[in-house]
Formats: sequence, structure tokens, C-alpha cells
Amino acid sequence: MNNALLLEKKQQFIVIVPAAGIGKRMLASCPKQYLTINNKTILNHTVNRLLSHKNIAKVILAISDNDDYFSQTTLVDNPNIIRVSGGKERVDSVLSGLQAVNDAKWILVHDAARPCITHNDIDKLIEQCFANNSGGILAAPVVDTMKRACQINAHENINETMKVSETIDRSSLWHAFTPQMFKVNELKQAIEQAQKKGLVITDEASAVEQLGLPCLLVSGRRDNIKITRPEDLVLAEFYLNQQKLEQIKG
Ligand code: C5P
Repeated sequence: MNNALLLEKKQQFIVIVPAAGIGKRMLASCPKQYLTINNKTILNHTVNRLLSHKNIAKVILAISDNDDYFSQTTLVDNPNIIRVSGGKERVDSVLSGLQAVNDAKWILVHDAARPCITHNDIDKLIEQCFANNSGGILAAPVVDTMKRACQINAHENINETMKVSETIDRSSLWHAFTPQMFKVNELKQAIEQAQKKGLVITDEASAVEQLGLPCLLVSGRRDNIKITRPEDLVLAEFYLNQQKLEQIKG
């Protein structure tokens, strides 16, 4: 067994789960994390998957102060969940979670809206980050041809608002997933600096990158989708049921 694996077996981690978004693109009557799949909220699926992993001890959940739904879930009494106030943007929710962390060297961050995360992918991420003593993220290479879009000029008389400006070389492009794993002090510093500079931060890695720190791309399963649009809910249900058949832990 290699050192990374030995270390990983003993180590217990905390995962911050930002869950304070409203999920506007889902067009639902409640925040998307409270939509249900197989009679369980998406948030329940996600948190249960994390807390049932052998190396995850606690989940810090960033929930909006205006949230009327969380108190109705079975998560509310779970002693391994620490609730913190979510912020205006995802990055504010993550920072709020980081402020509740004391005494941990590493932290993982995982979207509430990614219930199909597997234990095997979490293992891979932790092992790679430990083996390289570096932060990292689960990700997957882009498979579609990628286009840059630009606005159509008024005089062009086409019934769409966007058109192709160019095709981008996809050979070095990856989709960034979560969990993302970093050293606590580095992530905190990276987010605070990025916020000072007014940079747009859509994931933890984008903050860490601008500090010039390395971030590993750890190849993950493509079924680790982020439920974003209505059609994603059906897909997530399919993947969760399929994973059950494959006896993937959840
Ligand atoms: O909206 P999107 O899917 O990109 O959000 C990603 C994650 O960030 C979701 O789990 C969402 O609940 C969370 N989030 C948050 N606080 C916000 C906005 C989003 O915790 N202000």
C-alpha cells in the first residue's frame, strides 16, 4: 500500500457543502436542493453520500438565513452536520463554511446539487492530493467541439441572439466538478484575495489558481452531474438508480 493510501485511511475530513442557492435555472417552486428524487431531497442524497464515506467525519452546510425548507428535512438533527449562514454568491457561502473550520489542514468543498458523487471518486481525489501534496479537483476532459459565442448584430436579421465567433481547441479543456480539495489556509487566503481584487469566483480552484498554486485535475465519473436545469433531475434519478444496481455506495 502506498503512503498516500496509508495516510488517507487514517485521516478524517470535513466537507463544506454550499447549499444556499435558489437554483433559478431549475424553474422550480423551491430551491433545487429541496426537489426530491426517490422520496429524498437532493440535499439529503448528497449529504448522505458524503457522510457515509469512511474518511468524512463532518459536513458544514451553508444554508440561507431565509431558508424555510432545511428545518423540515431529516438532516436538521444530524450531529455530524454543522449549519452556517450562506452568502450572496456561492463563494460567500464557502467562505462562511471555512470560517467554521478550526484545526483542519485540508478541506473538501462539494456542491449540494451533485448527489451522484461516488465514494470511489472521493477516494481518487484524496489519494491524488495527498500523493502530490497539492490541491485538486474532480474533472473530466471536454468531449464536444467548443465554440465561442458572440452577439448577432441587429442588421443580420437572424432569429437567434448569438452566433459562433470561433471554434476553440478543446484538447486542453476540462469540465470542473466537485469535490474540490485544498489546504484550508491556502483556500481561505485565495478566496479573500480574489474578493479584494473583485474577481469572479465560480469554484474554489479559480480562486486558488490566481494565487499561482497548483491544482490537480483528477479524472472523475461523468455521472457526477450538477443538477441545474429541469432535464437534469430525470438524469440524476437515472444515475442514482443505476448506481444502486451497480452497488455503488450512497
Ligand atoms: O447555482 P449553482 O448550481 O452554480 O450553485 C452551485 C452550488 O452553490 C449549489 O449547491 C448552490 O446551492 C450553492 N450556492 C450557495 N450560495 C449561493 C449560491 C449558490 O451556497 N449564494
